[in-house]
Amino acid sequence: MNESILITGANAGLGKETARQLALKAETKRIILACRNPQKAEIAKKELEESTGKQIFEIMIMDVSDAQSVKKAVSELDGEIDAVILNAGGMGGRTPEKMTPSGMNELASVNTLGHVVLVDELIKEGRIKNVVMLASSEAARGIKKMGMMRPALKTNSTEELASILDGTYFGDKLDPMQAYGHVKYVATLWMSSMARKHPSIKFVSMSPGSTSGTSAADNAPTMVKFMFKYIMMPIVLPLRGMVHKVGKGAARYVDAITNNNYQSGGFYASEESKVVGQVVDQFKIYPVMANPEFQDNAHQALHKFIP
Ligand SMILES: NC(=O)c1ccc[n+]([C@@H]2O[C@H](COP(=O)([O-])OP(=O)(O)OC[C@H]3O[C@@H](n4cnc5c(N)ncnc54)[C@H](OP(=O)(O)O)[C@@H]3O)[C@@H](O)[C@H]2O)c1
Repeated sequence: MNESILITGANAGLGKETARQLALKAETKRIILACRNPQKAEIAKKELEESTGKQIFEIMIMDVSDAQSVKKAVSELDGEIDAVILNAGGMGGRTPEKMTPSGMNELASVNTLGHVVLVDELIKEGRIKNVVMLASSEAARGIKKMGMMRPALKTNSTEELASILDGTYFGDKLDPMQAYGHVKYVATLWMSSMARKHPSIKFVSMSPGSTSGTSAADNAPTMVKFMFKYIMMPIVLPLRGMVHKVGKGAARYVDAITNNNYQSGGFYASEESKVVGQVVDQFKIYPVMANPEFQDNAHQALHKFIP
């Protein structure tokens, strides 16, 4: 039973809708909205209280691209958390290639750095009771129809996986669409490694699927924003049946933390060559991701950037 839930990036899109859906469950007693912007967090809290009629929301200020910010937020947290939903992320804003003090670029840090620190700190303090869910993506195993390549690494060594996080893997020019899938690939491998290291906690990677009605495109680099906001999301993807509404995407998260059919360490998303519809085991689509050595290498690669 998940009475207390922490959701990162909960002021918008999938995170906010997930908070709304979970609040309507009788068992939910506390939802922590972990957000970087206090004003946006307050607005979201008020809207969620109004739409659900529940006064169970709390705000936690946390920038998931900054390890210190996450550590501070965890040190101020009280109580145990049943479910942690690692949702914040995206294509890394206007400057995905820009380096951060951690040594990761912005795209990698917003999707991975703070989430790794958050889970490590919560586990260190014995605060996670049931489940951790990562917002992964079909991009982690490639989406051919959207031109997103399947990550095909030479060795999946710690060094090679780390080069995805600092951007050197991509050479001089970082294409945010390709880099995004590769970063989600590393994060998903890390989750599977965590599942083996901490067998008392369930770790599930779930893609929400291709989802409209979020602000993902607004936060993307200019060209990606233009393509997704004005061409792909409103015209191309609906025509091809390749997008669903935010309620459906968030329902996948809710299912991921409640449905026992999802195995700890697993990666779940749409069927091969699809981005919506039925959710299936992705290791059957891309068995490379089930390799425990590669998963542990991803764990090590991520920790190279965390002091
Ligand atoms: N939408 C899709 O089609 C799709 C498909 C597959 C996977 N996903 C994944 O689903 C997750 C949510 O995406 P979405 O579509 O709901 O995007 P969204 O509407 O842009 O929401 C992203 C959320 O993350 C927050 N965030 C971004 N950077 C942050 C940081 N450094 N610290 C704390 N919070 C931060 C944003 O806060 P601000 O409002 O302050 O920016 C916002 O609340 C992402 O991880 C994305 O990669 C989305």
